[in-house]
Parts: sequence; structure tokens; C-alpha cells
Amino acid sequence: MRSRGAWGVIRAAVAGVLTAPLAACGLPAALAPQTPQGEAVAGLIWGFTALCTLIWVLVLAGLAVALWRRRLAPADPLALDMPAERRMGTVVAVLIALTGLIVIALTVLSFAAQRELFGPARDALTIDIVGHQWWWQVVYNSTDPSQTISTANEIHIPVGRPVTLKLTSADVIHSFWVPSLMGKADLIPGRHNELTFTARKAGIYDGSCAEFCGLQHAHMGIRVVAETASDFAAWRQAQLQPAAAPATPSAQQGQAVFQGSACAFCHTVSGTSAGGQAGPDLTHLASRSTLAAGTLPFGRGQLAAWISDPQGIKTGAQMPDLHLAPEQLNALLDYLMGLK
Ligand code: CUA
Repeated sequence: MRSRGAWGVIRAAVAGVLTAPLAACGLPAALAPQTPQGEAVAGLIWGFTALCTLIWVLVLAGLAVALWRRRLAPADPLALDMPAERRMGTVVAVLIALTGLIVIALTVLSFAAQRELFGPARDALTIDIVGHQWWWQVVYNSTDPSQTISTANEIHIPVGRPVTLKLTSADVIHSFWVPSLMGKADLIPGRHNELTFTARKAGIYDGSCAEFCGLQHAHMGIRVVAETASDFAAWRQAQLQPAAAPATPSAQQGQAVFQGSACAFCHTVSGTSAGGQAGPDLTHLASRSTLAAGTLPFGRGQLAAWISDPQGIKTGAQMPDLHLAPEQLNALLDYLMGLK
């Protein structure tokens, strides 16, 4: 009775471990695709899984039959049973041919998915993405420089229109992956890779860097905001505006702190003398929903924490602690929170 109880506990524990992640989170995002390209990837995952499961089951069944029907060793181990040898030879030849066919079938499946993933897209919106340790620079380029937008970590796109991401890196290899929208693609210094996808539904799609790129690899989140064409046009128009002028005396003092400290060496605020390129463009910082590439939700308190103790929040990030006095920090927050 006691051993049955222990067995029951073990079974419950194993079942819990296997089913809890699915029960808690539903299907992984890559299996709940929201774009034709994501569907191609999900189809590939299901196809490979189904075929490999079938092969696994057949191999185990074959093993079980072989064990069930095993024969005792003959008296003379060197004696040849020619008819049996010929049957074995045929079985092995058929299995080798089947293996070849299965490999070809998987290759064809993979090729079909790649046609969907990397096929040319007409009238695509092109966005340049540059990977940095540990954030994403997002640039909407235009032949007219006054129409170029530079932002970070949060990518706004219109629904229903193909989007082509041109990917490269400023330092080490990163990998761009928003699982419900597309497959992965690496960002490699000195190379340009492309990803194209078309979001069907408005919504927020989160992803992350998918290639280990250093200490804060896990804090390199991506957020894609898919919105209607008119919402996207409005967002674009707002981003094209120069930074809002500080509205209060405290915000004005904050701007002076920003321009008089190391902030301005690393960050750009368009329309001001701050033109640093090492960190994210902060012209419309307060319009974004997260801080430090998805490490914190955006808010005054989180921004205060990030500025006061960046190394405590994201050890190894390039952002230094500026040791600001409390009144300087307060004024700086008033200024930054106004950069809508
Ligand atoms: Cu960037 Cu991992």
C-alpha cells in the first residue's frame, strides 16, 4: 500500500511537470501564429513533430516485435541461414530507401516554408534594426532625412501591409525573434539579413533576442505594436515632430541637467544640442511602453530607478550611474516624462 502511494505521488509529480507550463501559458507563441509567415513556421514545426513522432513510434514498435520474437542462438553461430539473410537484406534496403525519402520529404517541407518566409514582398514598409548590447535601434529610413524616425525597442507597424526588417549589429551577433509573427533571423556585424512579415491583427506582440549575446541577453526584449493604417500614420506623424519643449521651470532645469551631464554624450533628443549616438534616441522616450529594452515597464518611478541605479537593474549595460543629487534627478524626470 505504501509503495502504491509513493508511485501515485511520482506519477502526479511527473504529470504536473509536463502539463503545468501548457496549462499556465497555453500554446507557445510560435504555435499561435498571427501572420502568414508565422503560419509557415508553425506548419513546419507541426509537420516535423508529427513525422518524427510517427518514426519514433514505428521504431519502438519494431524494437518491441524484435524482442518479442527473439530466437535462441543456433548451435553453430557461424552457420548461415541464406533465406533469412536475404529477407534481412531486403528489410534493411527498404528501410534505407525510406530514410532517404523521409529526408527528402522534410527538405521539401522546409523549402516550401522558406518560400513563404523569404519571398519578395510588394509595397513593403522597410525598417532598419541594429542590435546593440543590449537594446534594439529602430530606424524608419526615408529618402527625405526630415521624414526619418529613430526610436528603440518598440516597433510600430501597420496591419495588413508587409514589413521588411533589415537587420544588422553594432557589436556581437544577436537574433531577432517575435515568435507569433515570424521565424528568427540573426543580426551579424557587417551583414544585412532580412525578415518580412505581414501582421493580420492589431495588437502587441512581444519577443526577445534569441542568440546569447552577453550578460544581459535575457534583458533584450522587443515589442511590436501592430496598429491600423490611420493609427500608424498618426504615430509616425507624432514621432516626426522635434522633442517637446520643457513645459515647467523644473522641466527646464531638467533639460539643463540632461545637456550638462553625460546624458547628452550618449543620447539624442532632436531639436536640442543632445546628439549622442551610443544609446537609444530619447526624443519621444515617454511615448514608449517599456524601459531598458523591456526590462521595466515605462513610468516615472521606474525611470527614476533606472537613472539612479542602472547597474543594479541591468548589470554590464553601458548606462552609467551619474550620481545625481535628488533635486537634479527630480528635475530630470520632469523633463524626460515630458518627451512624449
Ligand atoms: Cu542580443 Cu541576445
